[in-house]
Order: sequence, then C-alpha cells, then structure tokens
Amino acid sequence: MADTDSLKETKDFCLDVPYRHEAFFVKGSTSLDWGMQNRLARIFNPRSGRTVMLAIDHGYFQGPTSGLERVDVNILPLAPYADALMLTRGILRTTIPSSYGKGVVLRASGGPSVLKELSNEQLALDIEDAVRLNAAAVAVQVFIGGEFETQSIYNLTRLVDMGNRFGVPVLGVTAVGKSMTRDARYFRLACRIAAELGAHFVKTYYIEEDFETVTASCPVPIVMAGGKKLPELDALTMAYKAVSEGAAGVDMGRNIFQSDAPEAMIQAVGGVVHECMKPAEAYEMFKTLRSEKKK
Ligand code: R5P
Repeated sequence: MADTDSLKETKDFCLDVPYRHEAFFVKGSTSLDWGMQNRLARIFNPRSGRTVMLAIDHGYFQGPTSGLERVDVNILPLAPYADALMLTRGILRTTIPSSYGKGVVLRASGGPSVLKELSNEQLALDIEDAVRLNAAAVAVQVFIGGEFETQSIYNLTRLVDMGNRFGVPVLGVTAVGKSMTRDARYFRLACRIAAELGAHFVKTYYIEEDFETVTASCPVPIVMAGGKKLPELDALTMAYKAVSEGAAGVDMGRNIFQSDAPEAMIQAVGGVVHECMKPAEAYEMFKTLRSEKKK
C-alpha cells in the first residue's frame, strides 16, 4: 500500500503567473502538432531560427560524387558542425553512427539516374521507414515545368499526406531543368506551389535579382541550395545574401564537401547563417581554421 503519511499537500499554483505559452519559431508552423514542431526544431536551430543543412544525398542519382566517395572518412568529421544532414537511408544506415544527435532529413524520392530523364521520379521511401529511422524530415524533388511535373507534384502531395499522418515534415526541393530560366518569377512559382501543396519547408536556389520576393511569397521557410562548387568567398557571399534576403538557412553540399578545407568551410557557413557574420569576416574565419588544420 502506498505510504501517504509524508505526502505534501499541493499548494504552489502560482496564481499570479500566466501560463507560459511560446509561439513556435519556424515560419508557417505555429499550428502544427508537437511532434512535427519538435522535428522541425531538430533542423532549425531554436537560438537563431535558422539551419545549416549539409546535403550529401547526391549519390541517389549520380553515384559516388566527388567528395562523397567515402562518407565515413570525409563527411563524418563535418557532421557535428551541421544542424542537420540531408542524405539517403542507405548512407544513414551503413555509415552514420546511430549516436548522431542532430536532425536527419531523408531523401524520399528517386528513380532515374543521371543517364535518364531526372524528372521521372517516384517516391522511394515508405514513411514508416522514416519514422523507424527517427528522421526529422523527408525530402522530395518537384520539377516545375519539367517533363514529369505532375508526377513529381503527386509524389510531394502523397508524401505530405503520409508525413502529416506520422508527424514528419516534408522538404520540397525545387529542381530546375537545364532549359529553364533561373529567375525570381520561376522560383516564386516553384516555391509557392510546393508550399501551397503542403511542403513544410522548401529548398531552392539563390538568384541575384529579387530573391527576397521568392522568400516573401513563400509561407514556409526557404533554405538555400548550394549548387555547383564556387570559390569559398563567393559561396559565403551567396549564403549571406540569401539569409539577409529572407532564407532561413542553407542546405549546401558541394560548396562544403568539395572545399579544400571542408571543416573550416562548414564552420564559416555556420558563422554567416547563425551569427550573421559578413562574408569577409566569415572568409577570414575560414582561412584561419584552414591554416590551423594544416599545422
Ligand atoms: C538536389 O537536388 C539534391 O538534393 C542534391 O543531391 C543535393 O542536395 C545538392 O546539393 P548541392 O547542390 O549543394 O551540392
């Protein structure tokens, strides 16, 4: 029988203190359920409200990309500096230690290799497996204007339905075909369609002109895609402009892991995204960390 003699009577109800209520910090996510918000908070840093995602999912359509030949050797040292890793379940299960405590954004679409029409994707992951792997989000390409546009949108909407059922956010990735004009008009269209159809955040490219209209007209956070490798200062400048113009962070791959000092680069990107460092300052940080590493 429970010993109730020493039980203290409850009395401290703090009647003069209003019940604490914090609005959730991620754009467009205030009405989401707790599990969905908790997962988003494993991607977006609650302190800055932004994210540095490290994209290493390239192998799902192009095999062992330069810099990703050995994820265990080249990428694991970078993982502690990222807020989240974007990757396939194959690399997650085989190579990432299960003690990894940051966000995992799982690639959920695939099909064609670089040898075929890339927009011809299907969903390539069951939501149950995403939950089993404790993913913080799942990612799907949308090919607006592409040959298989409707199919890719159908992939997105099915994934959003499954994600909503299980509390897993969906990242819509705007993939741009070679023939498409990369301008604000296109990206406003692509990002808005992804958000309207349920994506909880959107990955898209930075453009020099009117990028702020892309972020302003998208009701969920936009993370900037990295794209092909640039000189480090240029990549840091691009990240700086993107977050200054409304992006909630970056999802960069080659501009980090193809740098000659990837650990220094990811920390410099973090400086820009989380500490609002100017590009020149972040580049100095990069050079300092690079030279320290060489010693
Ligand atoms: C892009 O659509 C894919 O998700 C890529 O595999 C990857 O995320 C691209 O990263 P980056 O362009 O920064 O190398």
